Amino acid sequence: MAAVDSFYLLYHEVARSCSSYMETLALVGAWYTARKSIGLLCDCYSLIRLYFIPRLVRRTDLSKQYGKWAIITGGTDGIGKAYAEELASRGMNIILISRNREKLENVTQAIMKTYQVEAAFIVADFSKGREVYLPIQKTLSGIEIGILVNNVGAFYDYPQYFTKIPEEKLWDIININITAASMMVHMVLPRMVTRRKGAIVNISSASCCKPTPQVAAYSASKAYLDHFSRALQYEYASKGIFVQSLTPFLVATNKTTYHGFLYQNRWVAPSPETYAYHAVSTLGVSARTTGYWFHSIQHPTEEIRMVVASILGSVTSFIENTQFLVARYMPEWLWVWVTQNVNTSLRQKALSRTSVLSCGKELKS
Ligand SMILES: NC(=O)c1ccc[n+]([C@@H]2O[C@H](COP(=O)([O-])OP(=O)(O)OC[C@H]3O[C@@H](n4cnc5c(N)ncnc54)[C@H](OP(=O)(O)O)[C@@H]3O)[C@@H](O)[C@H]2O)c1
Repeated sequence: MAAVDSFYLLYHEVARSCSSYMETLALVGAWYTARKSIGLLCDCYSLIRLYFIPRLVRRTDLSKQYGKWAIITGGTDGIGKAYAEELASRGMNIILISRNREKLENVTQAIMKTYQVEAAFIVADFSKGREVYLPIQKTLSGIEIGILVNNVGAFYDYPQYFTKIPEEKLWDIININITAASMMVHMVLPRMVTRRKGAIVNISSASCCKPTPQVAAYSASKAYLDHFSRALQYEYASKGIFVQSLTPFLVATNKTTYHGFLYQNRWVAPSPETYAYHAVSTLGVSARTTGYWFHSIQHPTEEIRMVVASILGSVTSFIENTQFLVARYMPEWLWVWVTQNVNTSLRQKALSRTSVLSCGKELKS
């Protein structure tokens, strides 16, 4: 009995002295939960604000907001073409810049006919470096450029180790992904600043978020675009210019067919038209976005991923099964591990396809 009494006495003494610690811990717990809940609510709100509210309200005439003409580099295929059409559907006149004259003629004709806007084109190959910009500058003088979309981009043909990338391809990545965007901005921004309105969209990539092995030069060039855009936004927002870094994941274009299974899943890899429809609605709203709601779920926070994961059980297992890329808050080692595996498998598939294709040839030592 004496032992039981002493135990209760001891228990009450310990509980009394711990109660202040417990209260402190409870407060910390409540603060943490409140912070996470508010963060989650804010993320859900921005997702709705960014991707769903613009679908409910009437489409704004972008030419009134930014200026009459939009330039889209690499606008005859994939995301660039779809983005040009989406801008035209919102009242912008269109100027396309890419290499192939016939494609340029066809796309500009189709845009004029379908959307009843003006459209023109400039033939230029951005891989040529410095020489292409003076003719472009002369052609554009006197035209009120409201929106510049730096879309043109050079990819690896498939993921590959850096030493195996041909020198020519590296020059293309630098000239097309980095130089073209920088020079085009340098060309059009001064007049936008004078008019105190305009928008610049730089199409980066989700691979800009962290170092991505086996697409090292490509992901680094996209990181340049992302930082460039964000810094410009800080410099010029107060002068009436909106600069957006668009960081898509996979979009189903000619360049991404080698992704096979992922390419075919339209949730993961939307068509360029679906992607452009969503991305254009984020113009003027978010300075840094993937541009597509499902890609954003893969991006913003662990919490959103977890909520979506619990709602969409089957999607979650799909995501896990395919080692689905990215979350901004993924630790770097995990990102590298995932991308190494995905890229190694994509490279092996691409190489095995190449060797199947070359089977019909006579091989000599
Ligand atoms: N697709 C994706 O999953 C994805 C994901 C993240 C980021 N991105 C980025 O989105 C952008 C567009 O990609 P996409 O998949 O839509 O490409 P795409 O379908 O291959 O289209 C490329 C466009 O660029 C033009 N072009 C290519 N090389 C050029 C050059 N040297 N000079 C001038 N024009 C050139 C092409 O037209 P011509 O052949 O007629 O010149 C075409 O209009 C790229 O910057 C890419 O990095 C794409």
